[in-house]
Amino acid sequence: LTTAAQPQILAGKQLVITAGPTQEAIDPVRYLSNHSSGKMGFALAQAATALGAQVTLVSGPTRLTTPVGVKRIDVTSAAEMLEAVQAALPGCDIFVGCAAVADYRPAQAASAKMKKSGATLTLELTPNPDILATVAAQPNAPFCIGFAAETHDVVSYATGKLERKKLNMIAANDVSDPALGFNTDDNAMTLIWRDAQNEIQQTELPRASKLELAFAIFARAAQLLP
Ligand code: CTP
Ligand code: CA
Repeated sequence: LTTAAQPQILAGKQLVITAGPTQEAIDPVRYLSNHSSGKMGFALAQAATALGAQVTLVSGPTRLTTPVGVKRIDVTSAAEMLEAVQAALPGCDIFVGCAAVADYRPAQAASAKMKKSGATLTLELTPNPDILATVAAQPNAPFCIGFAAETHDVVSYATGKLERKKLNMIAANDVSDPALGFNTDDNAMTLIWRDAQNEIQQTELPRASKLELAFAIFARAAQLLP
């Protein structure tokens, strides 16, 4: 697979893509996070650029290098990610929420390193904003694409997220298979969207590299764009 000489189906389009995990501070030396590698989000940024788009990639902490031609904004927490996304949104045609945003953060991050006491410790968590749902709910929202990583009832949960968050499209994958998903180079997914008649449609994207899947997602999205 090459990114050279791809059809310019996203020419003139501006994309904002979130990628990677977020880290939610417990104290100055500790955080809550997850195993997201950021690979899918970076593959999406690379593919969209090859398809002619201008891409802003808002990324949580990853070990990945920025694809050529992509504007990258690094963030740490969900709150910072939301702020960076809002700042990047004016003029955005397509928003892709691919980050594994932490659903909760410590209600209060300690300002100094917490000391152990030997007793049980309870951390109070407070919900983070839903970045994708916030973007999709805005007036003149861009075309919104979400991701759903599920361990069971993959398509029904993902369709629920498509509806609830008012998305145009969602890519659902089964993370119960350790050979696919987090931190792997390959994945397999079900793409679910609403067609012009407002009917839910779906198609299987069989196991392929994350870059190939990214091209397949944008090929479908380009057909659905206003
Ligand atoms: N998402 C987001 N902001 C959040 C949580 C999720 O933007 N605070 C986005 C993700 O980037 C993904 C989609 O929402 O595109 C679905 O994320 P997922 O974790 O699968 O769904 P949740 O709505 O958080 O539900 P749950 O974790 O309970 O399954
Ligand atoms: Ca979640």
